[in-house]
Amino acid sequence: MTGLISGVARLRLAQLPTPIEPMPRLTAYMGGPQLFVKRDDLTGLGLGGNKVRKLEFVLPEAAAIGADTIICAGVTQSNTVRQVAAAAAKLGYECHCLIIGDRIKPEQYRLDDEYARSGNYLLDGLFGMHPHPCSIHDNRDQKQLELADQLRLTGKMPFVIPYGISNARGALGYVNFVIELASQLGTGDVPEQFDYLVHASGSAGTQAGLLVGTKAIIPGLRIVGIDVDADADRVHRDVVRVARATASLLGCDQTGLADLVTVLPGYAGPAYGVPTAEMVEAVRLFARLEGLVLDPVYSGKGAAGLIGLVRGGYFKPTDRVLFLHTGGWPALFSYASLFPV
Ligand SMILES: Cc1ncc(COP(=O)(O)O)c(C=O)c1O
Repeated sequence: MTGLISGVARLRLAQLPTPIEPMPRLTAYMGGPQLFVKRDDLTGLGLGGNKVRKLEFVLPEAAAIGADTIICAGVTQSNTVRQVAAAAAKLGYECHCLIIGDRIKPEQYRLDDEYARSGNYLLDGLFGMHPHPCSIHDNRDQKQLELADQLRLTGKMPFVIPYGISNARGALGYVNFVIELASQLGTGDVPEQFDYLVHASGSAGTQAGLLVGTKAIIPGLRIVGIDVDADADRVHRDVVRVARATASLLGCDQTGLADLVTVLPGYAGPAYGVPTAEMVEAVRLFARLEGLVLDPVYSGKGAAGLIGLVRGGYFKPTDRVLFLHTGGWPALFSYASLFPV
C-alpha cells in the first residue's frame, strides 16, 4: 500500500498513526449511525492538526532549494500559520507570514479582543513567527512574492508555502492518511470498513488527498467534505483541481475522480469564520458527550455538518461513519465569548 507514495520525499514531523476512537455517547444521542473519530487533532507538532501531515511532503522542497526562511499567509487565527511557524521553529527556519486581519470582523460577531491576541496568534508569537499585516482586499499571492523579494535583498533564501498548504504535494499528506487508515481497519475497536468519512473542507488539499488515496486503496469509502468557506462551488472546483494534480504527481488513474467529489454547502453560515448556532451546538455536544475539543471555524462546522446529515437521514442506521477531526482547537480560545461557562 505504501507503494503509492514510495519514492516521494518526506520529512517526519507528525505523531502517527493518529488514533481512531468510537463515539458511543454521541452515537446513542443521535440514535445512530455508528460514529467514530480519527484524531488528526493529535498530530503533535505545535498542538497538531491536519497541516502537519501536509508539511511532511511540502517542506522537503524548501530543503531542496536551500531555503533558510519560510513564508506563508493566513488569517489572524490561522491554524496553517501556527503549524507552519511550529515546523519552522523545529527545523530552524525563519518564518514570515502575511496576517490577514480583516477577513473576520470580530466586533461584528461579539467576539472580544481575544480574537486578535489569543489562540493561534499567541502561539505564532511563541514560535517566533514574524507577522506582516495584510488585507483580504490585497493580492495575497503578489504580496507573498514581494515579501520574498524583500527578504532576498537582505540575504535570505525564502520558500513560499502555498495557501492552506493545498497543492499536490501538500495533498500527499492525506494520501498517506488513507494508507494509514487502511492499516488500522479491522484492528481493535476499528471496523473492517467505513461507509463515509466526513470532514471540514476549505482550501481543498485535505479532501483532494483523501479522494486520490481512497480511489486507489479504499474505493468503498465515500468522502463528504463540509464547506466551511461559504463558497461550496469554489471549494468543489479546487478539490477537483488539486485532486487531479495529486493523481498526476503519483501517476494514478484520474478516470471518474471528479465524480467522486462531494462538497456540501449549508453549514458555513453567512461567511468563513462567522459563528453559527449549529457550530456552537456541535462544539458543545462533542465536548459533553465525548470529551473532544473542536474549533469554531473548521472542525466545529464540519461536526455541525455531520450532525445535520444524521438528522436529515443522509446515512443508513447501519452505516459506519468516520469523522475526521482536523484539529484547530487553539482557535476556540479566541472565540471564548461564544461559550460562557
Ligand atoms: C482545523 C482545520 N480543519 C480543516 C481545514 C480544511 O482543510 P483544507 O484547507 O485542506 O481543506 C483547515 C484548514 O485550514 C483547518 O485548519
